[in-house]
Amino acid sequence: MESPSRSGVFESKTDDRVERFAESISFDARLFPQDIRGSIAHARMLAAKGWITATEATQIEMTLREIGEELAGGKLPLRIELEDIHMHIEQALIDRLGDVGRKLHTARSRNDQVSTDMRLWVREALDRVDVALAALQAAFVGRCDADADVILPAYTHLQRAQPVLAPHYWLAYVEKFQRDRERVADCRRRVNRCSLGVAAVAGTSLDIDRRMTATELGFDSVTPNSLDTSSDRDFVLESGFVLAMIASHLSGWAEEWILWSTVEFGFLKLPHAFCTGSSIMPQKVNPDVLELTRGKSARVMGNLQTLMLLVKNLPLAYNRDLQEDKPPLFDSFDTIEAALELAAPLVAGAELRRESIAARLELGYLDATTLMEYLIAQGMPQRRAHHLVGGLVGEAMRQGVPLAELSLDTLREHAPELDMKVYGVLGAANAVAAFRSEGSTSPERVAEQVAAWKVRLGEAD
Ligand code: ARG
Repeated sequence: MESPSRSGVFESKTDDRVERFAESISFDARLFPQDIRGSIAHARMLAAKGWITATEATQIEMTLREIGEELAGGKLPLRIELEDIHMHIEQALIDRLGDVGRKLHTARSRNDQVSTDMRLWVREALDRVDVALAALQAAFVGRCDADADVILPAYTHLQRAQPVLAPHYWLAYVEKFQRDRERVADCRRRVNRCSLGVAAVAGTSLDIDRRMTATELGFDSVTPNSLDTSSDRDFVLESGFVLAMIASHLSGWAEEWILWSTVEFGFLKLPHAFCTGSSIMPQKVNPDVLELTRGKSARVMGNLQTLMLLVKNLPLAYNRDLQEDKPPLFDSFDTIEAALELAAPLVAGAELRRESIAARLELGYLDATTLMEYLIAQGMPQRRAHHLVGGLVGEAMRQGVPLAELSLDTLREHAPELDMKVYGVLGAANAVAAFRSEGSTSPERVAEQVAAWKVRLGEAD
């Protein structure tokens, strides 16, 4: 079957090898629900403007729905001669309705059609990602009450730094995923503009109503410039970037939890339903889901690179290169959606190894900063207090004890102004309680943040 796009100008049929090289049906078939919706909106508009009759519009609409059901059921054969999903649907319509079907492509080009389909598809996919991100945030927030009394070391340079509450860690990730959700929402605003009606590149001489199709398809507005619209894939690149940022956040989290689940850290027991075994070492429980979350993030970042390179040298307006936007974009959405789907239950099902965490919590002098700040509060200049506490840490290291186990005499040898009250800021628990500035980790501050997040995620109980 020869493609309906080959007009009378062609002197020979398409070379088979070209058909195989140029087809996109193998990856754009998944756009069929969007293509059908766009075509129905277009047909209704054509009828409203008098280009087809109301009866013809109804026939087209009913037949398009039937074709949609067949595509959904895998009943419509896909053939590379028909190149892409747009041609498959149009050809099926023509096969069934003859000349009535031949009218649908009035005032339309595949250039505005594919752009509209992609905008519809990306909009739905962004909405799904937002829901999945919210579910992951809810999984982190959902742990906060149960883990409220667990203190963990916070790290900088992967060296033990200061103590924080476990929920402070959980909310750190909630914040990252919140920024991702903001980016999703912002990206969606520019996705949600209707391309339909710019036709190939210059618009159309036929009297159409772009606003009608835009409203029908739930778009906020119509794109203002036909030349720009025909070429514009910013919305594809932007969503590719939004997904790459999510991939980066997921990957960092996965890396952290892989480390935390090691014997060396001993912080976390991962749910066994999300782990795999070793074919030779019977004792192994491996964090493969987290490793693959980290590993697959590379694909999503690579896809963004592919998309950037794809468009960078294109002259206005539509160029066939743009067909290549689909595999990387679809892959990024598929990968992120799959990773998010596993991340939420994995977060909910992991257990903190409380005893193992507590047994080593006083290692690493997590309270050194609060001791320094205690001296500052007594009037000592920061640089002097910093130097002095460094000396005390050195002394404690030589004795092999935490700061809280240095005798008052030893402490006073370094800082004569100290008295017994100093022990009230030593030790991880006292130090955590001391970090009270806005956004910090004291139990009161964290409780405020947890409460605010419960409200934000609509889970206040
Ligand atoms: N399969 C094409 C794509 O995905 C559809 C648009 C083709 N337009 C054209 N003028 N050949 O970009």
